[in-house]
Amino acid sequence: MQDIRSLLDAMTLDEKIGQLIQCTASEFVDTDAAATGPVTENGIPKSMLPFVGSVLNFGSTAEAIAIQKAHLEHSRIPLLLMMDVIHGYRTIYPIPLALGCSFDPSVVETCSKMAAKEAVAGGIHATFTPMVDLSRDARWGRVMEGCGEDVLLNCDMGAAQVKAFQGDDLTRHDTLAACVKHFAAYGGAEAGRDYNTVDISEHSLREYYLPAYKACIDAGVAMVMPSFNTLNGVPSVANPWLMQTVLKDEWGFDGVVISDYNAVGELLSHGLAENLKDAAALAFANGCDIEMCSAGYACHLKDLIKDGTVSEDVLDGAVLRVLELKNKLGLFEDPFRGAVADDNAPLYLCDEHRHIARTAAEESAVLLKNDGVLPLSKTLRRIALIGPFADSHDILGFWSCGGRSAESVTVKEGIAALCPDIPLTVANGEDIDEAIAVAKDADAVILCLGEPQNYSGEGNSRADLRLPGRQEALALAVTHNNRNTVCVTFSGRPLVMSAFVNDVPAVLHMWFPGSEGGNAVARLLFGDANPCGKLAMSFPKEVGQCPIYYNHLRTGRPAPADAETRHVPFTSNYIDCGNLPQFSFGHGLSYSRFVYESLTLSAERMTADDTIDVDIALYNDSDREGKETVMLFLRDAVASIARPVCRLIAYQKVTLAPHERRTVRFAVSEPMLRFWNAEQRFVSEAGRFELSTGYADHLLHTVSFSLE
Ligand code: NOJ
Repeated sequence: MQDIRSLLDAMTLDEKIGQLIQCTASEFVDTDAAATGPVTENGIPKSMLPFVGSVLNFGSTAEAIAIQKAHLEHSRIPLLLMMDVIHGYRTIYPIPLALGCSFDPSVVETCSKMAAKEAVAGGIHATFTPMVDLSRDARWGRVMEGCGEDVLLNCDMGAAQVKAFQGDDLTRHDTLAACVKHFAAYGGAEAGRDYNTVDISEHSLREYYLPAYKACIDAGVAMVMPSFNTLNGVPSVANPWLMQTVLKDEWGFDGVVISDYNAVGELLSHGLAENLKDAAALAFANGCDIEMCSAGYACHLKDLIKDGTVSEDVLDGAVLRVLELKNKLGLFEDPFRGAVADDNAPLYLCDEHRHIARTAAEESAVLLKNDGVLPLSKTLRRIALIGPFADSHDILGFWSCGGRSAESVTVKEGIAALCPDIPLTVANGEDIDEAIAVAKDADAVILCLGEPQNYSGEGNSRADLRLPGRQEALALAVTHNNRNTVCVTFSGRPLVMSAFVNDVPAVLHMWFPGSEGGNAVARLLFGDANPCGKLAMSFPKEVGQCPIYYNHLRTGRPAPADAETRHVPFTSNYIDCGNLPQFSFGHGLSYSRFVYESLTLSAERMTADDTIDVDIALYNDSDREGKETVMLFLRDAVASIARPVCRLIAYQKVTLAPHERRTVRFAVSEPMLRFWNAEQRFVSEAGRFELSTGYADHLLHTVSFSLE
């Protein structure tokens, strides 16, 4: 361990400021002959490069190692090397929104541990993950990076990632420092357009958007990244309420705050600063320790100290936080920290890692519809594999880091490996007549549809959530020519399927499943794996329903049930669409048939000091073993402010053998009943509550109890 206090005392001002600058690896690899001016492409004075404290985005491990090596020749402080290890490093697992559908934090944990190991070998010390931005609007392309619309699920999955990535000891070569982002409420962007304004009441922030960041901080996350957007008028990186009052004063976060990419520079575009010097002063004053990729600190921090705007004590505090993180990572003794300059290190895509990725893809796929055509038989005479994803390697997802498309398993490859004796005819579906001919000639069709990977992820918002191109027409044409058709869909967001979903007999939604996607699809379709994913985010019927989420408030004029099929004036509904989503939060089928037999309470009254046991009896009324996520929903009957129609307060995923009956028990306690009231406090109120199981639009066995 380094004595960082003494180190700090010995550091020059340039060295200190350097610790607060992060730039891209490309700044160090001066290949472009034009890049010969006094500043880098991001405007950082080249004279500051030797002092820079951290670097992101590497072309290869060799490059990361070379940059660290060159740096250590002139510096006593190793670089912190970071990358977006978001759903895998080289072995890519399903996108986080898919993992949310597993409703199983242990799946997320296993995947994150694998990613940490590979990323360490890749030379990375810290990852910009987890992203826990609650999202209710599928137009926003970054919904793929979080766990959807539910508070509890985002909290659990975020905390699971932090714990798995960081472990107990950051010097170990199977850990990475984590960075929770994007603080805060980046997912609330108006109209689902990336980087757009976020305007959310404190009530909604406290109740829905903030808890997952807090859960990550409670789990010990090392770093926090403020979001790009304005929150209630103020960009997060310059938002004192968010960065100081909530993050530091209330939550006690004492780790490193790092801006998002160029977010300090963007204070000029937001109109919060006249020039970069003011922007730097603003961000620094609001607790932003490291500036990523703009040049405010590099160019102006020295002057800001000289003119007294920034005190050297406060500067020292920020530098110490960065040095402390480097110390915890063991970088002073071990600056390469397990990096292996071999692009084909045996760890990458090893059998164990492929197995983890495949299992995760199976656990997170959601069977949206099945009229009985699935699972398919392995004695089929001929299968037609149709559509743009039938033999596509582009199924890794937007943040696939060091993943390589060619190393993914396509649907065709997966099916050919599992069922080598069934002849496959493949058509990409561009020619619909050809697709029809191929469909007619087969006894089953697997129709692989979806949106391209770069339709989701950063900067990729959509105003239309239907399948792009002629895929809807393809789905209808193929289904009408072969009733034994199953759709396998790929996307980074919920899609609008209303044009074809009533016609196709089955839909298996794979999201972007990662390196082992095709094998997972094959095993799920043929019943070697039993689908068990449940939607972490609702699929709207029409894009005009967005934002749409299950735990919305009640209104004074709720629509009657028949408003799903007709307009009921002067109640809250649409003229041209129902209120319900196509598939709601919590929906997901299985090849087993689960029957929710009862929900019983150990008592009908409770006080703040005791708990009520909730027993949910579940029966597997089928000959197949299967997994079911049992959910517990709460509705606050009467409160001092309007409360949601229901909200998830607990869940448990269980495996039931054929015809097994199991009682799943949850304990309900007073803290689970709390909400953020009009006096700006979390409280519970005495009165009646309702508990139900099932899922959001299909609540079952509702019973009441009261809090005294
Ligand atoms: C911008 C993104 O918003 C953020 O999520 C990411 O970590 C950084 N770029 C670094 O790549």
